[in-house]
Amino acid sequence: MTYDAASVRALLGEILGALASAPESDETRSLRERITAFAARPEAELTPQLALEASGVALGNMRHFPKEARGLVGSKANAIKQAGEAALAAERELAEPAALAAERTGKGFDATLPAPKLEAGSLHPITRVTRELEDLFTSMGWSVLDGPEVETEFHNFDALNISGDHPARDTMDTFWVKTAPRAQRLVMRTHTSPVQVRAMKRLKPPFRAIVPGKVFRNEAVDASHEHTFHQMEGLVIDRDISVGHLIGAMKTLLRGIFGREIEIRLRPGYFPFVEPGFELDARCPFCKEGCSVCKRSTWIELLPCGMVHPNVLKAGGIDPEQWTGFAFGLGLSRLVMLRFGIDDVRHLLGGDVRFLEQF
Ligand code: PHE
Repeated sequence: MTYDAASVRALLGEILGALASAPESDETRSLRERITAFAARPEAELTPQLALEASGVALGNMRHFPKEARGLVGSKANAIKQAGEAALAAERELAEPAALAAERTGKGFDATLPAPKLEAGSLHPITRVTRELEDLFTSMGWSVLDGPEVETEFHNFDALNISGDHPARDTMDTFWVKTAPRAQRLVMRTHTSPVQVRAMKRLKPPFRAIVPGKVFRNEAVDASHEHTFHQMEGLVIDRDISVGHLIGAMKTLLRGIFGREIEIRLRPGYFPFVEPGFELDARCPFCKEGCSVCKRSTWIELLPCGMVHPNVLKAGGIDPEQWTGFAFGLGLSRLVMLRFGIDDVRHLLGGDVRFLEQF
């Protein structure tokens, strides 16, 4: 059945006729106006879509037609509705193959336009370096350990031989967690070293382990200081461990990280939990004469380390007469910056996709 605007209009005329015998009211007047408006359209404009609308108006206002006319109005309005629906369905059926055929001709397709960009994620540079280091150390038989970021005052300080008046405990450097007055005091761990003691309590010596993780300090933030950054602790406990073992391991570590020999120097360093303690510095890869990253010194503080203090072994339940060890605290954030030439530590955890997209 083909759609015929003229007969739709004729049907609308019959519906209007039925309305003529209805009592005058605002409703019948407005209804008459609306249906007349449809019927008055030129045939070319009386589309199937409009026919559907007109039938909807008639069917939705059946109560305004005189009772005896409602049967007739219903059948005429339904005839209009069916004509409109059939015509629309036929149009759709025609349109689909037509659109497919148009697409197949290749018209409007430009093979020289760039393809839509594939949005692929990537690993954060800290994650990348962490995984590389985990691979390096596990390949040498070390374990990878984890520890809590909210740490007890005991593990973060006391067990590490850091006395109550040590400057590291200063509220200037430490985020203390609010706890009840007599409860155990908690801190956001200021370093990964508390896991040394946790490891000693959990593992039987001899053992070797690294602990990558987030640490927190109440710092004034600038290009080289963040309140949240990453460290990687290393701990070896065995019999007769000497400074020679420490230096050997540190050299292997740096060769693994940089894939080449990096010039280093050892300075004495003070940390209450190692004795003797050292600061291992690496040559600044950004400059020859000094820059903002190395604070114009050409050296970058990378790796504090030392021989585990007997008091720490005791706190971890290990007999210092039988066992010895060394520990290091790699500045993971700083290392990632060196590796990728990142000149501001704030980029690392800033969450700016323009930064992250570069990896
Ligand atoms: N935990 C120390 C810090 O964050 C670093 C360190 C680790 C020093 C292990 C010596 C041995 O400053």
